Amino acid sequence: MTKPQIRPATGAQYSRILGVGGYRPVRVIPNSEVLEWIDSSDEWIRTRSGIAERRWAGPDESVSEMSVQAAGKAIAQAGIAAEQIGGVIVATVSHFKQTPAIATEIAERLGCGTAPAFDISAACAGFGYGLGLADGMIRGGNAEYVLVIGVERLSDLTDTSDRSTAFIFGDGAGAVVVGPSDTPGIGKLIWGSDGSQADVITQTQAWDTAFAKPGAINGPAEDPEQGGKWPALRMDGQPVFRWAVWEMAKVAQQALDAAGITADQLGAFIPHQANMRITDAMIKALKLPASVPVARDIAETGNTSAASIPLAMERMLESGEAHSGDLALIIGFGAGLVYAAAVVTLP
Ligand SMILES: CC(C)(COP(=O)(O)OP(=O)(O)OC[C@H]1O[C@@H](n2cnc3c(N)ncnc32)[C@H](O)[C@@H]1OP(=O)(O)O)[C@@H](O)C(=O)NCCC(=O)NCCS
Repeated sequence: MTKPQIRPATGAQYSRILGVGGYRPVRVIPNSEVLEWIDSSDEWIRTRSGIAERRWAGPDESVSEMSVQAAGKAIAQAGIAAEQIGGVIVATVSHFKQTPAIATEIAERLGCGTAPAFDISAACAGFGYGLGLADGMIRGGNAEYVLVIGVERLSDLTDTSDRSTAFIFGDGAGAVVVGPSDTPGIGKLIWGSDGSQADVITQTQAWDTAFAKPGAINGPAEDPEQGGKWPALRMDGQPVFRWAVWEMAKVAQQALDAAGITADQLGAFIPHQANMRITDAMIKALKLPASVPVARDIAETGNTSAASIPLAMERMLESGEAHSGDLALIIGFGAGLVYAAAVVTLP
């Protein structure tokens, strides 16, 4: 007797981004406000990071609310109904419930029926990780349309007295709908991690230490002054900067090579908005022609981690700097350390 064989799932041959949407909080924090917290100057912040202002979310701009706003725009642009979404992936490090995932609440609020919904924690590479998963789900036959959301309220994890991070982070949400395509719209994802550098961007203390849980496996706090305090993000700026400049340019080049695209064929370069100087160094390393428009959303948005690439993508399309159908190189990198790069067709 022949062994029964499982019928495999079969999906679309290719996938692409069909729609993008963003949400930027109402409250603008200019550098002048940051200078009330730390000893610095507008000129220092602008020249070292490229940031002029960032947006911080108010009490009614929750992770869920910002996501719903951004995703609603992406779904409308994709021209599909929310019920057609077959997967909701939310990349975030600032949803404060261990369980359930915020993705299920967002799926419910959007009207995505019983779509599978889950969160991923891959910091500033989270959007790229989500995009790779969505591409695999669609081509593997486990979903037709997938919503990928990058969302952060990093203001909740910012220590406003820390000179090395207080000026960097911002809040916001960006979302895309990924769906089937007749032509390739998402190139091979070049992604990875380096856990040997887990300490260079991290929380000041784990939640069990912060809440002084008896027998906390992560405690006691290394710095007794920190014990029992709400955690914040801590960053060792220089190693992050060096790693981003040297290693990430290579990863970006690998994504171009894997997609069979040369830098001069790009219609946009959309790196994670970490620091304008990192972006400029990558442009040099990649020998990106001056004719390729580069996302510089960080100036008004700050570093919004998982939200930064879709927010910057939306802005470039809305401003006319980049156009639907253009090829864009995206690359995210951050805490973990983790990274993800790919060439995509813009929606
Ligand atoms: C954070 C960052 C902007 C700091 O810039 P830097 O040039 O590395 O700064 P350093 O920490 O070496 O400090 C240089 C000088 O500036 C001073 N300084 C540090 N923070 C300052 C601030 N906020 N304002 C003014 N001066 C500051 C330091 O005291 C030091 O002064 P000194 O030379 O007299 O000792 C930079 O390291 C960086 O961008 N790193 C990558 C961060 C990033 O992109 N993270 C996101 C990844 S997802």
